[in-house]
Amino acid sequence: MPALTIDGRTIEFQPGATILDAARAAGIDVPTLCWYPRLPTVGNCRICLVTVEGQDKLMPACATPAADGMVVQTESPAAVENRRGVLQFLLERYPAAHLQNGGREHPRNEFERYVVRYDVPVRPRHELPLRTGDERPGDVMIQHDMSLCVLCTRCVRACLDIQEVGVLEVGERGGETCIVVGGDGDPDHAGCTWCGECVRVCPTGA
Ligand code: FES
Repeated sequence: MPALTIDGRTIEFQPGATILDAARAAGIDVPTLCWYPRLPTVGNCRICLVTVEGQDKLMPACATPAADGMVVQTESPAAVENRRGVLQFLLERYPAAHLQNGGREHPRNEFERYVVRYDVPVRPRHELPLRTGDERPGDVMIQHDMSLCVLCTRCVRACLDIQEVGVLEVGERGGETCIVVGGDGDPDHAGCTWCGECVRVCPTGA
């Protein structure tokens, strides 16, 4: 069986596996936000980037096929610096005041656990407002708090690819990008079955 080296460990992998697959199978925790099991890989959050020997650039562990003889470092200085930059960028539009002044002992979700793990400082937000989107007003089953959204799009893909419903969409562009309930914003009209898959996969609890 082919094998690669990750963080100094030799790890065998099945053909077709990614670096992330091989790492996780060996218990090596590479951070991910946009990647989620059973969802199509989009590779857009860039938090999983790792150092691969012989490559000039960091490579996305979730989207890079493992190769026989490959040598990977998941926590190289460059990978950690990139990861901290990604998290810092996302914090620019995230309500994180509770993570200041000792609140870091109680991260509320997957995203905040990464902020704490990589010791990313929470700075006062200035220019960018918190994100908004369809918050499903009047829905007694599922509420969205889009100020927590980091645009990983797991919810959009889970609704479409796992549940095959497609209620959620990425709306607007640039700094206005947000997650919306399709059509007129009414989950009923959009065909929502209230399965809760969007709630289950969200890394921030939005
Ligand atoms: Fe790999 Fe988002 S988890 S790019």
